[in-house]
Amino acid sequence: MSEPLVCVSDYERQARRVLPKAVFDYYCSGADEQETLADNTAAYSRWRLLPRVLRDVSRMDLSASVLGQPISMPVCVGATAMQRMAHPEGETATARGPCRVCLCFPACRAAGTGMMLSSWATSTIEEVRSSAGEGLLWMQLYIYKDRDLTLSLVRRAEEAGYKAIFVTVDTPYLGKRRDDVRNRFKLPSHLRMSNFASADLAFSSEEGYGEDSGLAVYVSQAIDPTLCWEHIAWLKAHTHLPVVVKGVLSAEDALQAVQFGVDGILVSNHGARQLDGVPATLEVLEEVVAAVAGRCEVYLDGGVRRGTDVLKALALGATAVFLGRPILWGLACQGEQGVTDVLELLRDELHLAMALAGCRSVGEVSRSMVRRAQFSSRM
Ligand code: LAC
Repeated sequence: MSEPLVCVSDYERQARRVLPKAVFDYYCSGADEQETLADNTAAYSRWRLLPRVLRDVSRMDLSASVLGQPISMPVCVGATAMQRMAHPEGETATARGPCRVCLCFPACRAAGTGMMLSSWATSTIEEVRSSAGEGLLWMQLYIYKDRDLTLSLVRRAEEAGYKAIFVTVDTPYLGKRRDDVRNRFKLPSHLRMSNFASADLAFSSEEGYGEDSGLAVYVSQAIDPTLCWEHIAWLKAHTHLPVVVKGVLSAEDALQAVQFGVDGILVSNHGARQLDGVPATLEVLEEVVAAVAGRCEVYLDGGVRRGTDVLKALALGATAVFLGRPILWGLACQGEQGVTDVLELLRDELHLAMALAGCRSVGEVSRSMVRRAQFSSRM
């Protein structure tokens, strides 16, 4: 019998065993030396939790909301590309996990949590909607050189009842992931980015990627490196959905985003896959939250692996956090069930962390609950 999987790193270890090497490499890689990749997780250990005691934590409520939509916990599924490489049902399996989590948990006001679908999914926007049923979905958007194509993705998301557009702003070019170059990464031949008609845009051409990561070539051909703040205004003018900018790391950009009227900011370094050497997302969260001063919601992704990580991010001001790789590991291990299990694992860990810290609800999590770890100068 295989050993039980009891934490996210167990799922990662198991996923490494079951996935083809090039697929695991693609999902797990960060850019260049992967300094930021290591830091994204390490940052959580630089903060300590300060619990309160004697607070009757017998009844707990983990519910939260994103842009007015109720969720049963402040942990959501982030956008990760090409999920059918991890499991034959890909995004359609993932989409059922967030609907199932928390359905029978005590004191939950909302059922389920939300999922952000990648523009580069190997399932269509509509397939994922029908798989998710009434579940909460958001659309991650890349702005293509072809603006009509870009807006057609937005239209389809609107029509399929997605609740927000998360526009990625940190990818004018793809970061250099060395293993993807070594592996000459491309999609397995039976798969395509399903939201696009032509083979070129579906990343399913047989040739044309040279000696590079095929995805890096794809991005340089299709994605618009002229992207600037005016494009955020353009996007807002073309959709009635809330617009969230995904990939902000500085207070200055957060202020700019607020001035352009965004509905939310996702503090993200793209899973450390773009510019190596940027700070861990947890390290910049507080200054972004301070700059925004309540004018929009602020979320975080990057390195969240444990319930205590979620609690620390909430204490530093995040409204909710998004999971990337942990969901892929669950999907690779056990499809829909694996995704549900990873979400439930995070929920249970957050529940326990909050209870042990004396917080009965997300509203009770406060800045005073965390402080910087003191390291001796000899370390
Ligand atoms: C990546 C893109 C797909 O990081 O977001 O590979």
